[in-house]
Amino acid sequence: MKLFLSLLCVSIIASCGQTDKGVGDTGAQCSTDTAKRELGVGESSELAAFMRHMDKSMAGVKKAMKLGQKPTAKLDFTSILTASPTKEGITEEPDYVSYAQVFLRHVEALNHTPADSFAHQHNLVINSCIACHNSFCTGPIARIKKHLVNPDNIRVAH
Ligand code: HEC
Repeated sequence: MKLFLSLLCVSIIASCGQTDKGVGDTGAQCSTDTAKRELGVGESSELAAFMRHMDKSMAGVKKAMKLGQKPTAKLDFTSILTASPTKEGITEEPDYVSYAQVFLRHVEALNHTPADSFAHQHNLVINSCIACHNSFCTGPIARIKKHLVNPDNIRVAH
């Protein structure tokens, strides 16, 4: 029993380590910009500013859902394809464009999703933020994950 418990502890610690892997990663294309901004030097790129706008919007959607409301404003995140990034050319890379298109399809679906599946569709949007971030910008992943909801705990009114 003792052995079982200690093995359980070890595996929990190991899996926690894995989920935190992206935190503080400085190798990703996005972190220079964030670091600069925190130091108060340099300008934020258009894309970084737009990302923060989306981050706030999705926090707002989660907040509304927790109050049992379905936000009425439609989300328009198409600038993810056109805003100029910190790292020149990154938004023209085929992988970036594919991730962005999948993401935009989920956002468009969320705009038309009925109340009973809204929380589930919201999570699909957040997971498609994370999918792109896994390849292009691991730093903010822990922060983005906070927007996920447990659909079992959400009752959104029609
Ligand atoms: C198609 C890829 C892609 C998708 C989808 C995506 N991101 Fe990003 N994100 C990036 C890239 C690339 C950067 C770096 C931008 C830069 O520095 O110009 C970034 C940067 C960020 C940042 C840091 C901004 C800063 O202050 O420097 C946050 C926060 C963020 N994204 C949140 C989100 C959220 C929330 C979503 C979903 C609603 C999302 N992202 C969807 C690629 C993506």
